Amino acid sequence: MQKIYLDKKTSLHEVSSLFERLGGQEGVTNIVEGMYAKIFNDPDVADFFRKSDKGHQVKKMAAFFIYTTGGQEDWDGKSMKETHQGRGIGSRQFERVIDHIRSTMHELGHLDELIDELVNRLDLLKPAYLEED
Ligand code: HEM
Repeated sequence: MQKIYLDKKTSLHEVSSLFERLGGQEGVTNIVEGMYAKIFNDPDVADFFRKSDKGHQVKKMAAFFIYTTGGQEDWDGKSMKETHQGRGIGSRQFERVIDHIRSTMHELGHLDELIDELVNRLDLLKPAYLEED
């Protein structure tokens, strides 16, 4: 829980991290499992993961989401650039993945505001995932 201070003693209000608002470890894991169930069955993007260990990919992405939403200080995986460059990923594939994140979160009952917040955070790293743009 992060606090915003009015002065050194008085906190104005408390703001939870995005991680906490997504429902913590369990909430994030549900999103990641749901989005990959769609990704691995979507002909537009499934091929990128043809040779992947799917269980490992779900675990890695859950760890990355936890890190990037403020649930964990460190990320011990590869950099997003190192991971994605050279795979031929374009804007279209990126948007497909984002669509799967959005629809999974809708199905889980998350509000649009929270969905936008997570998507905006992932968008910040967009240049690292893509081959062009
Ligand atoms: C939405 C933003 C995205 C995030 C946050 C993300 C995150 C990640 C993470 C955390 C890994 C694992 C890195 C590691 O092993 O240390 C990974 C691997 C990978 N990602 Fe992404 N990714 C995104 C978008 C995409 C897109 C759009 C594609 C292609 C459609 C893609 C394809 C892959 C592939 C092929 C791997 C390697 C899987 C393997 O090791 O076999 N990613 N990604």
